[in-house]
Amino acid sequence: MNEITTQAEVQFSEEAMAEIRRYISHYPPDRKKSALLPILHIAQAEFGGWVSPAVQDKVAEILEIQPIEVYEVATFYTMFNLKPVGKHVLEVCRTGPCMLRGADQLIEHLENRLSCHVGENSADGMFTLKTVECLAACGFGPMLQIREKYYENLDPEKIDQLLDDLRKQ
Ligand code: FES
Repeated sequence: MNEITTQAEVQFSEEAMAEIRRYISHYPPDRKKSALLPILHIAQAEFGGWVSPAVQDKVAEILEIQPIEVYEVATFYTMFNLKPVGKHVLEVCRTGPCMLRGADQLIEHLENRLSCHVGENSADGMFTLKTVECLAACGFGPMLQIREKYYENLDPEKIDQLLDDLRKQ
């Protein structure tokens, strides 16, 4: 989607606002900030899979907090994307157990297949390649996550098949 550059352009849908209000209602009025994480997830889903500065500013306005309080959370957690992403975001675990099972080679294979480096999008805009820390599937590495779905015990052949399948979606 096009980049949203001003807070005025940020308009949540009715459904998203209802969900945001529901999360805020879980907390006392002077503790609205406690709803920040779920609201950032809602914002990311609402605006093309990433949270632009303008979207973060809007979240700050809704929660009546300073924008920096949103930025520091959005930049800390790898699940929030700070740049536009491809249709499929591949999050490869790079923590010890997965590394011992070949995560490095998996990342290199993906970089070659997608012609992009970690942190970048493929030229066709279909994929974003990211690395993340342990996703708690350590016995089944190397693995990656796409949204809520895990792909485990990966090797180059399985990766090639996965990319082909995703390109058809
Ligand atoms: S080390 Fe990869 S899932 Fe835990």
